[in-house]
Amino acid sequence: MSTALYRRYRPEAFAELIGQAQVTAPLMTALRNDRVNHAYLFSGPRGCGKTTSARILARCLNCAEGPTDTPCGVCDSCVELSRDGSGSLDVVEIDAASHNGVDDARDLRERAIFAPARDRYKIFILDEAHMVTPQGFNALLKIVEEPPAHVKFIFATTEPDKVISTIRSRTHHYPFRLVPPGQMLEYLEQLCSSESVSVEAGVLPLVVRAGGGSVRDSLSLLDQLIAGSEGGQVTYDRAVALLGFTHESLLDSVVTAFALKKPAEVFAAVEGVIQTGQDPRRFVEDLLERLRDLIVVYSVGSDASAVMRGVPQDQIEKLTTQAMQFGMADLTHAAEIVSETLNGMSGATSPKLQLELMCAKVLVPAADQSEVGSLARIERLERRIGMSGGAGETTAASASSAPKSEVSATATAAPVAVSAPIAALSTAAFKDAWQEILGVVNKTNKAAWMLAFGLQVVDFEPNDSVLTLQFTSARDLESFKTSSNAPDILRKSIDQVLGVTVKFKPLIAESAEVKTEALPVVAPAPAVEDVVEVEDVAEAPVEKIAEKKPASKSRNSKMVNEEERYGESLLREMLGAEPVEDKKNR
Ligand SMILES: Nc1ncnc2c1ncn2[C@@H]1O[C@H](COP(=O)(O)OP(=O)(O)O)[C@@H](O)[C@H]1O
Ligand SMILES: [Mg+2]
Ligand SMILES: [Zn+2]
Repeated sequence: MSTALYRRYRPEAFAELIGQAQVTAPLMTALRNDRVNHAYLFSGPRGCGKTTSARILARCLNCAEGPTDTPCGVCDSCVELSRDGSGSLDVVEIDAASHNGVDDARDLRERAIFAPARDRYKIFILDEAHMVTPQGFNALLKIVEEPPAHVKFIFATTEPDKVISTIRSRTHHYPFRLVPPGQMLEYLEQLCSSESVSVEAGVLPLVVRAGGGSVRDSLSLLDQLIAGSEGGQVTYDRAVALLGFTHESLLDSVVTAFALKKPAEVFAAVEGVIQTGQDPRRFVEDLLERLRDLIVVYSVGSDASAVMRGVPQDQIEKLTTQAMQFGMADLTHAAEIVSETLNGMSGATSPKLQLELMCAKVLVPAADQSEVGSLARIERLERRIGMSGGAGETTAASASSAPKSEVSATATAAPVAVSAPIAALSTAAFKDAWQEILGVVNKTNKAAWMLAFGLQVVDFEPNDSVLTLQFTSARDLESFKTSSNAPDILRKSIDQVLGVTVKFKPLIAESAEVKTEALPVVAPAPAVEDVVEVEDVAEAPVEKIAEKKPASKSRNSKMVNEEERYGESLLREMLGAEPVEDKKNR
């Protein structure tokens, strides 16, 4: 009968601890520099080294060569405090779970008065300190606050919040953490080789997963697997069965069946899960984990082995094949559904039913929705083709050239040529589709529709996707502008109907002549040398509005100024542009 692994491998020095550098490094430094506090609090999840560290700290403090960050291991104290040692008179370990009352605290207090029997310090380790009652802590308070020079306290607990704050604030607090999988795996591998047991591929990752970051739990599980192994050989089959994970081969067949869309095999596998009495939830978890692995493999390609540590090469190749069979879109889709199922998996619905539903959803990738989606896309394409080619009525040709001839009279032909095949949309196309666009806005958001329904399409500049809209008044423009979502909703609706993301350019109508007069003003603008940039196109109309308004509406200059401001700020906000003057003045 051998002692448990976790006892045989209990670290005896800080350097042997794994995954707790955030604690061991500063502690060792403090010890080296002889800056030792009189009370310590070690907190953290179970089985990650708190009690062990408390003992190591005591060993460091009382080593004949110490205080030191590495106990010598040969002095009397070190020998007594070693893994197999008898324990030292001067290090008192108290399990607070059973000694938690006032009397125990008083007893401890009295014992603390006596000087150490042999070593430097009298050290009290209060393990499971959260079990001490508040009264017990209060009885301890005085001595923890100002202990005699020869006394040190080390509290260890999973629940530091339960240690009353007056005590806590008198300690140096070191938080322990769960050990990350990579480090744990390495440690287990090392341990297996020093125990000379051979472990089949894939077993240790299972142990790491089942251990959940606790070293003690992981070691216990490994211990159990070793105990049940034949001839020092831990086999994968036994390990999955014992740990309750889904068998690789089952996962393989389910995933492949999903990828190749073979319902019969998928449902047979589900049946298998239920028949073998496996926990359905665990199966879903494992499936999700597998999908995640596939996504990772798919994304990183040949670097997968670097990302997925501990996974052998042939396994990675298998995963790659599966990922390829799936494709990224189906993978993410499947992962989403599986994850959703996992979240909803509690409660009354029969697990088998839930599993089968999940499989059905994965197998039929969002059938109706994607149909709607692609239908919409086809419609959009049709519309665009129809508009550029067929619907040549009066405006198709002129509209696409009209704005160009005005604005880009000075521009080279290049931008036109580039944009021609993509953006054949015209002002007329916008006018035709406008009611439909407003309909979409209306469906999306009534308030946005109220703001948008009075708008009129004035012009669309396909080169830069700038859509000039006419507002009936400055107030309308202001409301539209300050609405939290109207511009966005309108833009998205346009995108949905016409498949183009536009930038808005505002015009305030007040009277029709604004518009008609405005256009000629733009054309001659001599400053515009290269119209390809959006800002330049956008700037021109500002000048137009700014110059225009005072002339035509001078009787109400306050109003006009307001409008200017609105126009300008809208421009800045929506187009990210700035007026030409601003730029020039700089
Ligand atoms: N960080 C660690 N590095 C190496 N072994 C560890 C670590 N943490 C825990 N162990 C193993 O787990 C066992 C229990 O650790 P322990 O210190 O009692 O945990 P707890 O944090 O619950 O007090 C130790 O004997 C040791 O074998
Ligand atoms: Mg402990
Ligand atoms: Zn020593």
